[in-house]
Amino acid sequence: MKTLYTARTVIRPWYLSDADDFFEYASTPDVGPNAGWEPHRTRSDSLNVIKNYFQRTYYHWAIVLPDLGKVIGGIGLTQDPKRSFPQAKALGYSMSKDFWGHGYMTEAAQAVISYGFKDLNAQLISAYHYSFNERSKRVIEKCGFTYEGKLRLCSQPYMGVLHDDCCYSMTRDEFTKLYL
Ligand SMILES: CC(C)(COP(=O)(O)OP(=O)(O)OC[C@H]1O[C@@H](n2cnc3c(N)ncnc32)[C@H](O)[C@@H]1OP(=O)(O)O)[C@@H](O)C(=O)NCCC(=O)NCCS
Repeated sequence: MKTLYTARTVIRPWYLSDADDFFEYASTPDVGPNAGWEPHRTRSDSLNVIKNYFQRTYYHWAIVLPDLGKVIGGIGLTQDPKRSFPQAKALGYSMSKDFWGHGYMTEAAQAVISYGFKDLNAQLISAYHYSFNERSKRVIEKCGFTYEGKLRLCSQPYMGVLHDDCCYSMTRDEFTKLYL
């Protein structure tokens, strides 16, 4: 898996030594629940996710601010859970609240979208957010995704409460027009 470089970030594979930085933000109530996962309770939770999920399944990157030498978030492309053909990828991300509001995720997402279409030969990349997640909505809009609609009561993350999924996608043609 390639390391990607943007103007301000390095987007690289996860290392086990990232567990402390990951735990620092994954243990807070503002990050995981907005993305559908439970806050981590211990550093071992973070280590396990790195070891058994990020490092075992493609494509998950850590987002690093090189000047700080710190992992500030994560981003990934997985099989789109709502489409069955393998060239349909879904974009997912989360970031430490300390770094929200500086456009880092939009910058990282644009690099990962380019990688998905150019290197992974994706035909479509989707992005989903819960209807209350306005920040994620803005990231998705700023990346140029097209809104498809809302799937009501679609996701049931760990707390057992059903959420609406706001659905977006970008086709290869749209990527070419917007990014190249
Ligand atoms: C989603 C997330 C990565 C966004 O990070 P971020 O640093 O805030 O992203 P950006 O700075 O690039 O953009 C945020 C945008 O949302 C806007 N915004 C912030 N709060 C907002 C609100 N309450 N209502 C509407 N827009 C809001 C900002 O103004 C900004 O838009 P702008 O650039 O047009 O001004 C971050 O909030 C996060 O990690 N959240 C928890 C995990 C998560 O939600 N993951 C995504 C699951 S779908």
